[in-house]
Amino acid sequence: MEALRGLGAILLSSLVFVAHFSLFASSSFLSSQDLQIVNAERRIDLTSHIVRVYLTLKVKNIGTSPASEILLAFPPVQVEHMAIVKAAVTAGKKKMKSYLPLDVKPTEMPEAPNGTKYFLISLLNPLSVGESVTLEVLYVLTHSLEPFPLEISQSESQLVYYHDSAIILSPYHIKKQITFIKTPTAKVESFSRVEPTDRAGTEIKYGPYEDRPPYSFSPVIVHFENNNPFAVVEELVREVEISHWGSLLITEQYKLVHAGARHKGIFSRIEYQSRPSSNGASSFKGLLAILPPRVHSVYYRDEIGNISSSHLRTDYRKSELEIEPRYPLFGGWKATFVIGYGLPLQDFLFESSDGRRYLNLSFGCPLVETLVDKMTIKVVLPEGSKGPSAVVAFPVEQHLQTSYSYLDVVGRTVVVLEKKNVVPEHNAPFQVYYHFNPIFMLAEPLILASVFFFFFVACVAYLHVDLSIQK
Ligand SMILES: *[C@@H]1O[C@H](CO)[C@@H](O)[C@H](O)[C@H]1NC(C)=O
Ligand SMILES: *[C@@H]1O[C@H](CO)[C@@H](O)[C@H](O)[C@H]1NC(C)=O
Repeated sequence: MEALRGLGAILLSSLVFVAHFSLFASSSFLSSQDLQIVNAERRIDLTSHIVRVYLTLKVKNIGTSPASEILLAFPPVQVEHMAIVKAAVTAGKKKMKSYLPLDVKPTEMPEAPNGTKYFLISLLNPLSVGESVTLEVLYVLTHSLEPFPLEISQSESQLVYYHDSAIILSPYHIKKQITFIKTPTAKVESFSRVEPTDRAGTEIKYGPYEDRPPYSFSPVIVHFENNNPFAVVEELVREVEISHWGSLLITEQYKLVHAGARHKGIFSRIEYQSRPSSNGASSFKGLLAILPPRVHSVYYRDEIGNISSSHLRTDYRKSELEIEPRYPLFGGWKATFVIGYGLPLQDFLFESSDGRRYLNLSFGCPLVETLVDKMTIKVVLPEGSKGPSAVVAFPVEQHLQTSYSYLDVVGRTVVVLEKKNVVPEHNAPFQVYYHFNPIFMLAEPLILASVFFFFFVACVAYLHVDLSIQK
């Protein structure tokens, strides 16, 4: 009954949405009618909890002047959950195909129908009249699979909803389009039909649809099984300390949660261990962290102490750290832990041509297929560093702090980078540049040496001065 009511509400809201869109579809208000999408193919990958959509668009200029920008349109709910949008233009034929990345940024349009949000792709060369170009777009959506039912017991499988439109939302006329949705297993409870619709194994096919006017929209819901780990780090703080004595020390504090359907009833470890295949299918116990090669002094602990269940494998390309929290995580359960490690400085710290030093490290979370709701990276520069600046390939919030550790006189500058909604696609290198005067490297040894020296002098003085009262 509850399920039916839920479905009813969803259908109703979808209908309202359609009504809105069809109202606007007829009015042509954007000057973007000079472009047409000749062919569109969309592949929606729902196999993990992070949704990835691959879009191939063949865009033709049917206007009267060259075009240098192309708009992507999204319903507002999708933009709220959008972690990243990337676009590239393909060059060359089949085997020799290469991808040239393009600049994509969010943009506003006047009179956007029903709050439609836009991203603007800037082409490298303007598209001349009558010409066409093929674009490859990838966008990643987070928290977009809704568990339904909301609560499941230990022996139940996890089912989720995914909402989208069978027809690609676009400000342009689309001549021909097709959408494929890939589910993790063939267990699909239900899916909306917008004929022609077809399903085979783990793939649902919507289309081909022909000649759809701008802003056509047709909501669909897919209800399917997804037992992949819904591993979400609510908060991750990565602290990177540069010591010019040869190491990069990294400490990562995790607040991990299982963001799937909430666990209901009691947890039976006996059931869980005796029949792992049918028990706790949606839970997870192990996680894999990919760390750089030549990692050393690795530890994994929580508030109780060291957790021994971790394994480290290293080769010349990467290191793999397998961690296992103290208990398996079911929907809604949390675990807090710290991973720490050291890295050889010469692999990550370089000198730029203008004499500044710079750190070049990977942004993002080392845990595989994990979403981070809020990430903070703190780069602690050596004492005496000046004029730091960070270079990151995507927008992040930045500010500076000062921290003090043992023997620091002036304190260390800390470059703080903050970003919400971080997905594996954010694992790109970032740099922190700074000026450093090597004389500061001598500061701490000098302080130590002088402390010992004065201590020694004090001892000598004490031994030689007679402090007794009697004459
Ligand atoms: C925890 O592990 C680290 C590294 O393996 C080790 O150095 C440390 O002594 C351990 N601490 C305890 C309390 O076992
Ligand atoms: C940073 O490191 C990556 C490889 O990890 C490399 O591809 C990139 O060119 C480096 N960037 C700079 C500015 O040195």
